[in-house]
Amino acid sequence: MSAADTAAARQAVASNKLWYHTMEVAPGVVTPGWFDLRGIIAGLPWPDVEGKRCLDVGTYDGMLAFELERRGAAEVVATDIADHELWDWPPRLRAQGAEFLREAAGEEKGRGFQIAAELLGSRVERRFSSVYELSPEAVGEFDVVTCGSLLLHLRDPLRALAAIRSVCRGEFMSCEQVDLGLSLRHRRRAVLAFDGTNHLLQWAVPNAAAHRSMLEAAGFDVIAGGELYGEDFGPAHRAVRRSPRSLAVAAARRIFTGSTGVPHHALLSRPAI
Ligand SMILES: C[S@@+](CC[C@H](N)C(=O)[O-])C[C@H]1O[C@@H](n2cnc3c(N)ncnc32)[C@H](O)[C@@H]1O
Repeated sequence: MSAADTAAARQAVASNKLWYHTMEVAPGVVTPGWFDLRGIIAGLPWPDVEGKRCLDVGTYDGMLAFELERRGAAEVVATDIADHELWDWPPRLRAQGAEFLREAAGEEKGRGFQIAAELLGSRVERRFSSVYELSPEAVGEFDVVTCGSLLLHLRDPLRALAAIRSVCRGEFMSCEQVDLGLSLRHRRRAVLAFDGTNHLLQWAVPNAAAHRSMLEAAGFDVIAGGELYGEDFGPAHRAVRRSPRSLAVAAARRIFTGSTGVPHHALLSRPAI
């Protein structure tokens, strides 16, 4: 890549105010995202995607979709909602107005994806659709579906899983944020930390057992995965104040997930019926 191309790539990256994913989109050019999945992506329980039709749901800047493509998928569709106003905002947050929603969720939905796809020379097809709208009639069926860190942001995660189930004829890899304390205290019992009011737009964070139960309740059999891991913070995250509590949380996360990032849990599953 020439120096001029690198400079142009840096300029394109800088033109997007808000990056979610920290990704290398050109040699030496890395997006300054909120989260950095580069350290954990290889360890996720990926199915074989070679030559397959794949879907990534709630793609944001597209990191999981680009990984499906890199792994040899024949076709990748990446969906996200068209506008941050369409998220399942709890009424208290929505009442704070459009400016608040924009501040929390970014200006133009999908701009990061578009820039990254162009720089990577990707053929991933991005479509705007709510997870609730997925159906065989709308998007067809897929051999492999992935979905990351979305269920906790939904008012109705089981309806979302039913929609995913309706378009999945092969394998579904679900990578979700989990509550670490509840995962350690209740290894077999499905427990959700319900909120529905916080500024992070988190309705309910499951423990690892609840993540598994939700997939099973939606008609999937879990076939692999199940380790706890942490999604590292990227450069866009504001530094956390170093209170005794935050240091204790970070230490627990490092011991049990290997990272001080946000605790997650990934499962590979397939439709049971
Ligand atoms: C926390 S980000 C996760 C991004 C990515 N999937 C990952 O694992 O790194 C959640 C994504 O889900 C999208 N989203 C929120 N509500 C949605 C809905 N109803 N249908 C589809 N996507 C939605 C958001 O716009 C955002 O891109």
